[in-house]
Amino acid sequence: MRWIDTLEAAAAEKLPEPVHRYFRQGSAGGVSVGEATAAWSSYRFRPHVLTDVSTVDLRTTALGTPIDVPIMVAPTTLQRQADPDGESAMAAGVAAAHSVLGVSSNAGTTFAELGAVGAPWWLQIYVVKNRDATLRMLDKAVEGGARAVILTADTPVVGRKEDDGPSVWEVIPDGQLLANLDENKYADGDLGKADDLTPDVIGWLTERTGLPVVVKGVLRGDDAKRCADAGAAGVIVSNHGGRQLDGAISTAHALPDVAEALAGSGTELYVDGGIRRGEHILAALALGARAVFVGRPALWALTVGGSAGVTRLIGDLGEELEHAMRLVGVPNLADLSPDLLDR
Ligand code: FNR
Repeated sequence: MRWIDTLEAAAAEKLPEPVHRYFRQGSAGGVSVGEATAAWSSYRFRPHVLTDVSTVDLRTTALGTPIDVPIMVAPTTLQRQADPDGESAMAAGVAAAHSVLGVSSNAGTTFAELGAVGAPWWLQIYVVKNRDATLRMLDKAVEGGARAVILTADTPVVGRKEDDGPSVWEVIPDGQLLANLDENKYADGDLGKADDLTPDVIGWLTERTGLPVVVKGVLRGDDAKRCADAGAAGVIVSNHGGRQLDGAISTAHALPDVAEALAGSGTELYVDGGIRRGEHILAALALGARAVFVGRPALWALTVGGSAGVTRLIGDLGEELEHAMRLVGVPNLADLSPDLLDR
């Protein structure tokens, strides 16, 4: 059995049941989470033969940061449940793999601690009703060395989870969430998600931080175009791991429309959701993504193997991608194109 496929069961042995459930679950009826991986596996390749694939190069850049493989780690909450050092351990694993880490604004680790690890990292932000609270967090992220802001745009309200047991929020100890927000300063309502955001927020975030802004949660070409026109440096095709609108289209199937809308715009295109194999990454890159993000696999790897587990996960997926590129007959990332897929 592939090591990656053993991770979730091994993590389940170590995690409290509500935490394991929280990591794995989708929203509502679980339709989107359930079909994400199968959607990637539904693509069929049209491989080239008789091309020289003796040297495969997986190196690229993400918003100017060099990365060894086009595989990055998505922002996820509650990493201190996976490893006592939480986001710092995740960052160490990502640094050793020479990749980039997305860090949740819910992080239980201060951005100063995280920055000290030395991994390139992007702050994921939920803009909350009180803009001052958002700005303070952004300031801390800039001080901690964040290189970009990921604006999560698919969460005007939080997706409904149907728990058949105590919810994770009933069992986790204090101090594992929101280490970068002085919660006591604000009334509860202040920290609720802003549900009145428009593309103007992209310019506001860019100006206030001086960092490039990547919009996460885009599933339509017309929205991607609105983001690009408003100054987004990047777009992440994502349905939040099936945790927001249940029944939202699979990212594997949303990607072509978004890629077409962004062609020639200079806005970098990324994708996440259900990506578990080298062949899935190959399909994503062929469809126009510059790199992919993985969410749950990184949580399982961190739980099971700490930072070394995260490094191995990225390394193993990179090896699978390299192998698949040899078999599809294309040795360079730049030459991967939609024509490799039977559509
Ligand atoms: C997430 N995700 C997420 N996204 C975000 O923008 N901010 C967040 O705080 C979180 N938190 C979070 C917690 C957990 C437990 C999961 C599983 C996911 C979504 C995440 O960034 C990403 O979009 C998906 O996880 C990608 O799908 P896969 O790789 O998990 O299938």
